[in-house]
Amino acid sequence: MKIVKNSKELERVVGQLKVQNRSIGFVPTMGALHQGHLSLMEYADKENDIVVVSIFVNPTQFNDKSDYAKYPRILESDIEKLNKVKCDIVFTPEESDMYPEEDKRQFDFGNLDKVMEGKHRPGHFRGVALIVSKLFEMVKPDRAYFGEKDFQQVAIIKHITKQLKFDVEIVSCPIIREEDGLAMSSRNMLLTKAQRENVSLISETLFEAKKIAKNSSVSETKDWVIRTINDNPFLKVEYFDIVDTETLETIKEWSQNVDKVGCIAVHVGNIRLIDNVRFYS
Ligand code: PAJ
Repeated sequence: MKIVKNSKELERVVGQLKVQNRSIGFVPTMGALHQGHLSLMEYADKENDIVVVSIFVNPTQFNDKSDYAKYPRILESDIEKLNKVKCDIVFTPEESDMYPEEDKRQFDFGNLDKVMEGKHRPGHFRGVALIVSKLFEMVKPDRAYFGEKDFQQVAIIKHITKQLKFDVEIVSCPIIREEDGLAMSSRNMLLTKAQRENVSLISETLFEAKKIAKNSSVSETKDWVIRTINDNPFLKVEYFDIVDTETLETIKEWSQNVDKVGCIAVHVGNIRLIDNVRFYS
């Protein structure tokens, strides 16, 4: 595995791969890698000649400074993990390389950033779009792999890929969970033992909601989820909504003939976790 620390060197390496006509599968990450990230690399390996992973904790997507400050940074153990999977190139740039000057671009996401994460984390998706578009320009991938754990992020990335005319296929991959159902996340390692024992209620409740939904309206189901999680003293729901998987517009009736996903954000002390589950009518 090649470790590439700056964009100049990456340009040279990618240039060679392009001359050789090798297809590139790209997995952008912020590090503190877990099995969720590694699963994306496995998908990338199946469909491409070369797997490129980036590790960069992107400051522009953190609307909360303390969240950025405490975000785990464990590059050495990340590299060890990458050495054991199919990763050909890991790109670990410095901030000055990704943002040599302030990037003032604005994006039009339509409705996609007006709801859920976009509504509660102002500027977050602009930061994601800034960094992902820069990374796409540098890595020049044929395919890029994103997890459905960040459901709204995938929708935003698909949108900007079209809007900015990137010739990249966006592949969305299933959520990887711990044994008790908790969606894997780099932030999980920040949980205390007591918090960790309680957060499994989030996914348990989402799975149970699919059963509740059979005999309840959409709004009754949403209320039940919020109430059940808020009844636990460790957890505070920020939002739970059931939306159209394409438009992210709120579902009013189960009879609406579209794919549906229930997305949740929960505060556990000063840590914020997200998860989602599909609802099938
Ligand atoms: P990060 O949170 O490190 O996640 C990197 C990728 O791993 C994202 O596509 C995310 O959806 C995926 N992922 C995280 N947990 C997962 C899980 N439990 N199962 C499956 N996939 C999972 O998302 C980001 O970084 C950043 O916003 C980034 C796209 C890198 C831009 O900075």
